[in-house]
Amino acid sequence: MNTKDFIYKTPQLLPDLSAYEAEAPSNIALVKYWGKYGEQLPKNTSISYTLQNCKTETKVILKKRIEADDQFHFEVYLDGELKPAFKSKIETFLKRIEAYTPFLKSFEFEIHTKNTFPHSSGIASSASGMAALAKCFVAMEASVKPELTDEFQAQKASFLARLGSGSACRSTGGKLVVWGKHEDIEGSSSFYGIDYPYDIHSNFRDFKDSILLIDEGQKQVSSSVGHNLMHGHPFAEQRFQQADANISKLKSILSSGNFDEFFALVESEALSLHAMMMTSSPYFILMQPNTLQVIHKIWGLRKAEKVQIGFTLDAGANVHLLYPEASSARVRKFIDEELIQFCQGEKVIHDQIQF
Ligand code: PMV
Repeated sequence: MNTKDFIYKTPQLLPDLSAYEAEAPSNIALVKYWGKYGEQLPKNTSISYTLQNCKTETKVILKKRIEADDQFHFEVYLDGELKPAFKSKIETFLKRIEAYTPFLKSFEFEIHTKNTFPHSSGIASSASGMAALAKCFVAMEASVKPELTDEFQAQKASFLARLGSGSACRSTGGKLVVWGKHEDIEGSSSFYGIDYPYDIHSNFRDFKDSILLIDEGQKQVSSSVGHNLMHGHPFAEQRFQQADANISKLKSILSSGNFDEFFALVESEALSLHAMMMTSSPYFILMQPNTLQVIHKIWGLRKAEKVQIGFTLDAGANVHLLYPEASSARVRKFIDEELIQFCQGEKVIHDQIQF
């Protein structure tokens, strides 16, 4: 499938005045996306686990048919409260997807959205938020085109979500999702995410992600600024090659079930992502002192007791603790006794990945 396959070719066909609902989960990347080109296309392939509990639920209500002009006529509500500040980011998204959802200009509509995780938690809501919204738009299209296959709808939802926020295309479906064309991953595409198409060892099928909220503040540097700083970055090309090589390595680790290799690769990915931030111009640091405290504690436990546990980081200070179900009892005790002191307001979100 290519860009032109997703164009909406029957603009006269309008969805009914109705409410269209969808939910989408958050995801956590094992191999990170950092650097893009063209229309939100990734410079390297990335892969993420889909979380089960951290989700966005969205309802788009088409309220009134109108004569289409050059504007979008909509309001955004978060938890039932009008949020004019959210409009500009969504408007940018709507403009980018206009050729694929031209019917939106023929309506006055409302977007109602809520997250199952605290909005100020420092967890990126843009991936799940854009993914849920994209799924609502695909539901509108499907309501007037019953012939659309489930596969097409899934691909289009991911394709649209990508145009809202790159990593959102990994949040529209699947448990382990790959985004970015890669010669070792059959069916992979830079236009949308696909379900990881190979066998996964049972060691990696029932995993936990406990998110330690180190810093609940707003990000000091947005990810779009961060992606742009990869243009002209002295280590960019090596980074893109490293990530693509890590996809191939991870493929063999996921089939062999080797925990040590898994955590070594995933932690290296997290630190490489942050190394790119620290070596861009201008440079910036999103980790906080407590991020490092937690990392050293994790390494200490792993060395002393051979517990299967590792970490990854997003574009922020929070630490995602990754561990298999079998390590759960020990890790929960470890969090309560040793890590909670480093979390703002002692907040931890326990999530999981289950196949
Ligand atoms: O989707 P964006 O543009 O917010 O980029 C997010 C990129 C990371 O979260 C840092 C890594 C990733 O692959 O999810």
